Amino acid sequence: MYTKDDDYWQKRYSAGERIFGDKPCALLVDHTQLFNPGMSALCIADGEGRNSVWLAKQGLRVTAMDVAPAALAKTQAWAEKNGVTVETQCADVNDWLWQPDAFDFVICVYLQLPPEYRCRLHQGMVKTCKAGGYIFIEAYHREHLKTGLSGPKDIDFYYHEELIRQDFSEFEIMLLQKNLTTVDENDPTQKGVCLEFVGRKP
Ligand SMILES: C[S@@+](CC[C@H](N)C(=O)[O-])C[C@H]1O[C@@H](n2cnc3c(N)ncnc32)[C@H](O)[C@@H]1O
Repeated sequence: MYTKDDDYWQKRYSAGERIFGDKPCALLVDHTQLFNPGMSALCIADGEGRNSVWLAKQGLRVTAMDVAPAALAKTQAWAEKNGVTVETQCADVNDWLWQPDAFDFVICVYLQLPPEYRCRLHQGMVKTCKAGGYIFIEAYHREHLKTGLSGPKDIDFYYHEELIRQDFSEFEIMLLQKNLTTVDENDPTQKGVCLEFVGRKP
């Protein structure tokens, strides 16, 4: 887990190129029909903005947050290049003030936290999602550990279906699946075992 006092991500993002590429997460693209102009989205731990900028291009009002200032500088540059606006906020998700019923979409892609922090993250996501709104999560499934590819070493950081059913019990499950997914959208050979969740708040 990384916090605002830890410069791991800041260093990674400061090293020039866009490390997670330009293409949005395929889970979002697969649900393009849900994203209508004027709707609002919060992108948690959004990195260099590949997802927030794509959502802004669909006409959404987007807030992107991340712990690394260098990531958000890249998001702003990417938004400018694409002719859209994204509000960026630098924060540790553990300190995030979750406004109730604030966003139509609450999106978290590849953030792996220890159980205690993940539980608080999920509670915050539930709180800040509007009634009728959607939560999107894409993260490494615990079966990813078997692949030997990069990812957290501790199995507790990984997702599984039961965890989602527990933490989002009040949500209508639109999609909950384990998927062998391209984890680097610029390099289709980079596959990971991911959990994909789309849930609708009643
Ligand atoms: C694997 S990257 C994924 C970035 C982005 N979601 C994407 O898919 O391109 C994980 C991201 O989580 C951010 N992050 C890690 N710990 C965080 C924390 N405690 N609060 C906010 N962001 C955090 C990192 O800075 C990094 O951008």
